[in-house]
Amino acid sequence: MKASQPFLDVHNQDVRVRPLVEADLAAVMELECQGHSHPWPKSTFLDCFKPNYRLWAAERGDELIGYAVVAYMVDEAHLLNICVSPRVRGQGVGRWLLRHLIAVAVSDGMEQLILEVRVSNDAATQLYLSEGFSEIGRRAGYYPDGAAREDALVMALRFT
Ligand SMILES: CC(C)(COP(=O)(O)OP(=O)(O)OC[C@H]1O[C@@H](n2cnc3c(N)ncnc32)[C@H](O)[C@@H]1OP(=O)(O)O)[C@@H](O)C(=O)NCCC(=O)NCCS
Repeated sequence: MKASQPFLDVHNQDVRVRPLVEADLAAVMELECQGHSHPWPKSTFLDCFKPNYRLWAAERGDELIGYAVVAYMVDEAHLLNICVSPRVRGQGVGRWLLRHLIAVAVSDGMEQLILEVRVSNDAATQLYLSEGFSEIGRRAGYYPDGAAREDALVMALRFT
């Protein structure tokens, strides 16, 4: 898999993964508010346009249908956000975004990819497990959950 691979057939629909740019943020914020109970504010996305971050957009035609944000810390990549439009979930877009960002992280010399996921988030957890991630820990009360807090699973995929 090449970082610059232009088009890939995802369940027979052309989906392209390319670097996210600031001009995408209006569309990103719409998906972010649909995809997360506690969406990032736009300012958090803006803070991620830095050399040690990789931001990816998945688009079909000129429609943004997903995105991902990865931070590199020394030799470790951290998946901070991944989201697919509710209209196109279950069609392989999330898996393709994940495989793309992993391929780039490997070619950028990272040794592993780490992420946190809500313990209640079965869809994301199943995706990560099916791509070879394993649970390496838990963070108690990591996520806001109304007046309470929800635990995070910490998952990792080693590249070496
Ligand atoms: C998690 C998310 C990115 C998955 O995107 P997607 O495009 O729907 O995922 P895919 O179609 O590529 O599915 C890949 C795998 O994920 C798992 N999966 C996806 N949806 C699922 C569901 N509703 N229930 C259980 N497993 C599911 C399956 O293992 C699936 O593989 P399969 O199709 O062979 O069964 C998407 O659900 C999403 O944007 N959720 C909201 C944001 C979020 O929770 N992000 C993750 C934060 S850690």
